[in-house]
Formats: sequence, structure tokens, C-alpha cells
Amino acid sequence: MTTRKLGRGVALVGAGMSKFGAFPGKSSRDLFVEAFQEMLGSVDKGFDAKDIEALFIGNFSSDLFENQGHTAPIMADWVGLTPRPATRIEDACASSGVALRQGLLAVASGLYDIVLVGGIEKMTDLPIERVTDTLATAADALYEVPAGFTFPGLYASMATAYMAQYGANPDVFLKVGYKNHENGSLNEKAQFGQRIASIMEARKASAAKKGLPVPTWADEMEFLKDDRANPIIAWPMRLYDCSPVSDGAAAVILVSEEIARRFTDKPLYVLGSGQGSDGAIHSRPTLTSLASAKYAARVAYEMAGVKPADIQAVEVHDCFTVAEIIATEDLGFFKPGEGWKAVEEGKTARDGIRPINTSGGLKSKGHPVGASGIGQVLEIWKQLRGEAGQRQLPGNPNLGLTHNVGGTGQTCTVHIFERR
Ligand code: COA
Repeated sequence: MTTRKLGRGVALVGAGMSKFGAFPGKSSRDLFVEAFQEMLGSVDKGFDAKDIEALFIGNFSSDLFENQGHTAPIMADWVGLTPRPATRIEDACASSGVALRQGLLAVASGLYDIVLVGGIEKMTDLPIERVTDTLATAADALYEVPAGFTFPGLYASMATAYMAQYGANPDVFLKVGYKNHENGSLNEKAQFGQRIASIMEARKASAAKKGLPVPTWADEMEFLKDDRANPIIAWPMRLYDCSPVSDGAAAVILVSEEIARRFTDKPLYVLGSGQGSDGAIHSRPTLTSLASAKYAARVAYEMAGVKPADIQAVEVHDCFTVAEIIATEDLGFFKPGEGWKAVEEGKTARDGIRPINTSGGLKSKGHPVGASGIGQVLEIWKQLRGEAGQRQLPGNPNLGLTHNVGGTGQTCTVHIFERR
């Protein structure tokens, strides 16, 4: 495979996001405006929104979630940027990761100097059955859906394959969720920003207040293994193995390298970008690795000229806990079959040797699907600029990576960022 380079350098100079959560009464337009305003305010040396030349908006299914198609020009209108070109990009949960790549290519080509890349999704207006059906449109309607698969079911099949192949047991998945809630408790934008210990104590207090028997969980793992507290959604995936149904928006500004320092002294340069594709799970030789992710990672590492060991801050697509473990192997942080052991050994915790998802990941921060890819970039933006507050990684990190998956891996993007 030939190593490709961008036509010219591209940098990130501003980033913002709405809180992720369930917001009755707020549409994706409202959430996008919130993200846009925070993004403008984040540009250190000031920024005139009128300088934005084009918008690339990732969105999975406003059509079914909000009964509204053709969303990109609406977003441009709501932030006062018409008649600039506004393009919607749909690649399931990887929609805004792919939008990022499209914005990047547009600036690298020389067509534009300044573009906005955003992501939006408003999922919580529908009842859960319709949310599940809507998400299932990202699965294969010929093979997967008629077989009765939902997304929790599809990832559950990957989890059982992983356990069978590598000897992992379901407890390790719970430990991924536990860790991500620990991280998310330090993120004010997180939908479920509580530690498992706090959730457990709140349940006990609630039972006591209602005069019900108070549960006697000895510790967080006992709580997480309790079928009533943490019901099985699709074995072995339980409630706390699943990312939630969420509303949210995120946005970043990409500019050509030559003008980046006009806006900030701390731009993040996009060193590498990769994207891969794959068929549905029935057609894959293995369920314990994503060919799209491995391909995207290889392209991104080669373009960036770095190795997995060089990366310091990492956000991976943990739509279900098993997906985080598989991602850490596909990205080359651990050997195949070793990712679950790394979780057991605490290596992926915030204070471990390979911290993963310091934001809380999709599990705790929330997963408004079309916004999640840019939401991940927000964490890398903060970590590499030393602005992540209580969850800041030590050692002044300057290389970060995002891994954003669509479906069960039919699409994957990997991006590598550097602060110089
Ligand atoms: N993690 C932890 N707690 C969760 C949760 C999650 N993912 N989702 C909901 N909850 C909590 C709620 O806060 C609520 O708590 P409370 O009773 O203390 O108020 C309780 O669980 C029930 O919430 P509810 O909204 O009724 O849950 P639900 O049954 O409608 O949805 C899932 C739960 C797991 C089915 C849903 O979150 C889901 O489908 N997740 C996967 C989404 C997905 O597939 N995304 C695409 C990935 S590729």
C-alpha cells in the first residue's frame, strides 16, 4: 500500500460541544448552536464565524429520529452561515468521523482554508423500540436484521466470540464500564457522569427512602453482576455494557497549516487520517477484530509516521464494552487476545500505562451517534492542550488518536493529532 500524505497541512484551532444527555424540548438545531458557540469561544485569539467557507455535518438519522431530512443546510442557517456550502455525511455512528475526514481533505486539497466540521444527533424523542429499529437501519437489512439482530445483539455475538477465542469472562466487560464511569465522573459534559460507587449508593438510599429492602452489594462488581441492578440486555452485554441513547452535538474548526497560528498558539495538527470499510458480520472471517479499523489505523499511522506506542491520549468507540477491548487490539496497543488482560491489570485506567477513553467514552459520556466522532476529538483537543481539568493526563501529552466506528465495523475512521 502506498503511503499517502495530505496535499498540505491542516490544523484544528477551535472545538466545542453541547452537553450529551436527554434533553426534551431541545432539537438537534439547538444543540448544534450550543456546540457552535462554545467552539467560537474556544479560539484563543478570536475568530469571525463569517470566515468559515464550508460546513461538513455528520448525522446518522435525523430523518427517522426527528422526521427531518436535509439537515446540513438547516445547521448552516441556524448559525448564520448560509449561503456557504453545507454537506451532510451519513456513515452510521461514524458519521462525524467521516465528516472530519471530508473536511480535512477539502482543506488539504486547497479548495478551502477554513471549514467547520460538526456532528449532531437527537435520539431521545422516540420510544426505545423505535430507537432500536432506527439504529438497526445501520445494520444489514438483508442478512442481520431478518435474523433478529439488534445492535446490542450484534455486539453480544462479538463478545461471545471474543470470550470463546481468548478465554475472557463477562466480568472483564463490566470492568471496562466501571473504568469509563470513573473517567466520566470527571467530565461535566457526560450524560452518565457518575461513578458506579455513587450510582450504587444512590440506589441503596432510594430503597431505604421508599421503605424497601436495602440491597447489600459488597462492592461495585457485586452491584454490576446483580441481574436486577444491571439487567442483561443481550448476553453477555448488560445495561452497564451499553452506551446510552443520547442527544448531543459537537463542532471543530479546521484551517490550513499556514494560517493556524493566526488563531491560536496551540493548534492541533492532523498528522494522519485513515478510513476503512467492511461487510456485515456474517461475511467476516473473524468477529474478534474489525478489518476496517485495522486498515484505517494502518493508513493513519503510516501517514503520521508514528507507531502505536507513540500515542498518548486515545478515544476509542466503546458503543459496547467489548468494542473498546477489540479496538485497543486493532489499534496495535495490545496484541490480539491481550486487550482483556490489559483491562484486568488496570493498564487502560486513567493512571495506567495505556489510558483509554479519559472522557468516559461513549459509555459514560453518551453516544448521540452522529456527534460521537467529533465528541471524541473534543477530548483529544483538551488533553493535548492541557485543558482536561481533573482528568488531565500527566506528562504533557502531545500525540492523540480517535477511533470512530459505524455499525459493527462496516465503517471505521482513525485520526491522529499532534500539538507542536
Ligand atoms: N447505562 C447505564 N444506565 C442506563 C443506560 C446505560 N446505557 N441506559 C439507561 N440507563 C438507566 C436509566 O437512567 C434508567 O435509570 P433509572 O431507572 O435509575 O432512572 C434505567 O437505566 C432505565 O432507563 P431506560 O431509558 O428506560 O432504558 P432503556 O431500556 O430504554 O434503554 C438500552 C437501555 C440499553 C436498551 C439503551 O440504552 C440502548 O439501546 N443502548 C444501546 C444504544 C445503541 O445501540 N447505540 C448504537 C451503538 S452501535
